[in-house]
Amino acid sequence: MSLLEKLDKSNIPQHVAIIMDGNGRWAKKNNKARVFGHKNGVKSVREVTEGAAQAGVKYLTLYAFSTENWNRPKAEVAALMQLLVTTIAKETKTLNKNNIKLQAIGDLKNLPGNCYSELNKAIDSTSTNDGMTLVLALSYSSKWEILDAVNRLLNDVKASDNKEIKVDEAMFNRYLCTANIPDPELLIRTSGEYRISNFLLWQLAYSELYFTPILWPDFTRENLWEAIADYQSRERRFGKTSEQLSS
Ligand code: IPE
Ligand code: IPE
Ligand code: MG
Repeated sequence: MSLLEKLDKSNIPQHVAIIMDGNGRWAKKNNKARVFGHKNGVKSVREVTEGAAQAGVKYLTLYAFSTENWNRPKAEVAALMQLLVTTIAKETKTLNKNNIKLQAIGDLKNLPGNCYSELNKAIDSTSTNDGMTLVLALSYSSKWEILDAVNRLLNDVKASDNKEIKVDEAMFNRYLCTANIPDPELLIRTSGEYRISNFLLWQLAYSELYFTPILWPDFTRENLWEAIADYQSRERRFGKTSEQLSS
């Protein structure tokens, strides 16, 4: 019996978010340049996307490039953007074949022109798919997202006649990039780092966190299923007591 068959199908996280980390260290281990690690990371993206769809995950969010990553050496940033363009162009067909809808979150206007247009083309082309949604976090950081939300909200208040607006969670959610996406039940970070690195701070408020030492290019669909199995072994109490949950 495979790990996939052992998963409790009634308790699959709806939304899994992943901080894909360790490409550079993986390349170093193999005596290669960092870019080689990124290229091999694409294989894991394909692998995990399929594995998530097989498990019945509805939303898979992948942290692919952070706001802070713009500060990397120019050549690495350029290589990553190029890789993004070629990967998106190449994978759109497979996304359509697998009924996967592509979305993106982040400060997308900051992406190079060809990257932005290739991304939008793929988003358009997959927009009517209703299987899993694959969300790429690109030029994304949570503090940017939250401030962007606050500023847009303030502008809307300024433009409105009603100045007595009281912001609640539902309203604030609508201003985030993740407006129509449920919060992740499970966050995975690879490569043995124990931090969030400015990812989905608001949305992760009650997520289960799973850290693995596996470097991203080595991460397989079985590893994803292991993470989901671990998630299924946890008791999510949301502030209540264990006894309250079982009664
Ligand atoms: C993750 O791998 C990919 C991106 C952040 C774009 P890294 O490039 O951060 O790999 P390490 O952390 O240096 O090993
Ligand atoms: C986080 O990885 C961002 C992505 C995976 C895209 P980093 O490798 O950039 O994170 P830090 O700098 O080590 O925290
Ligand atoms: Mg890293």
